[in-house]
Amino acid sequence: MDKKSKILILGAKGMLGQDLVKVLADFDLTSWDRPEIDIADEYQVNKKIIDLMPQIIMNCAAYTAVDDCETHKDLALRINNQAVGYLALAAKKIGAIIVHISTDYVFNGKNENGYVEDSQEFGPVNFYGESKLLGEKSLQNIYDKYYLVRTSWLYGQNNKNFVETMLSLGKEKKELSVVNDQFGKPTYTVDLAKQILYILNSNLPFGIYHATNETKEGGISWFEFAQKIFELAKLDTKVIPCTGQEFLRPAERPAYSALINTKLPKTRDWQEALKEYLDLRIKI
Ligand SMILES: NC(=O)c1ccc[n+]([C@@H]2O[C@H](COP(=O)([O-])OP(=O)(O)OC[C@H]3O[C@@H](n4cnc5c(N)ncnc54)[C@H](OP(=O)(O)O)[C@@H]3O)[C@@H](O)[C@H]2O)c1
Repeated sequence: MDKKSKILILGAKGMLGQDLVKVLADFDLTSWDRPEIDIADEYQVNKKIIDLMPQIIMNCAAYTAVDDCETHKDLALRINNQAVGYLALAAKKIGAIIVHISTDYVFNGKNENGYVEDSQEFGPVNFYGESKLLGEKSLQNIYDKYYLVRTSWLYGQNNKNFVETMLSLGKEKKELSVVNDQFGKPTYTVDLAKQILYILNSNLPFGIYHATNETKEGGISWFEFAQKIFELAKLDTKVIPCTGQEFLRPAERPAYSALINTKLPKTRDWQEALKEYLDLRIKI
């Protein structure tokens, strides 16, 4: 990818979006979030994107409040599905490459080994996953110059996330129950942003990619993730394993959702990435 390439980042104020803006700082970047565009408004998407004429459109915008998607299904469909269709159509009109971010939650959560890029074991257990799966299909049905990048369990400096929740609960409580029968791959948004840059720089074939930090096979549980957060943050909160059934939330979570990456160079191990995140966070 040429440094002069004109890149549009949507959802630029989100957790991933802010790190992508930093990682892609050398390019001709335009960063939009809600004040600049509502991606669920077809007219705006068409007009603003065609006026700008980017060569690459990166869609990091999404309705990501997993529990709220259960009660705001129309909104979830508008942002996570219909808007993706509008973006794909606009990209097609101007011949731009589209990079769209999706999730491990599109899968059925039953495969203990995890899911490769071309797995067809779909069957989301919650409506967020359903709306994101529909978004994937809308993109693929409309246009073929896409990189569909699935990722999972994101944390980064710029938004609420599991690590931040654990740290604030850890300061208040001596003991904490955390789910030990749901498995996935935690991913630092800085590492994900670098993987996206790699995809673009390497002119890889269009298609589906899985980008996460590495874990042991099959992923780790939220309990293991929490234990490591407290250990690295030097908090002596005791973590007690519990089941998903004991910790019910409005949206069900998949039991197994590890994404297997067979196409990209491996990213670093999740523990190393988490350590860097916590070290930086403590300095800030
Ligand atoms: N977070 C995770 O654990 C996770 C896991 C797997 C995959 N993903 C995927 O990764 C991508 C990035 O996630 P993230 O956690 O970085 O998201 P995020 O922090 O929630 O950021 C999303 C951004 O998009 C904006 N946005 C939402 N609706 C919009 C609209 N209609 N028009 C314009 N902007 C809009 C949001 O603004 P408001 O805040 O004002 O709504 C927010 O700034 C998403 O596609 C998500 O589905 C996330």
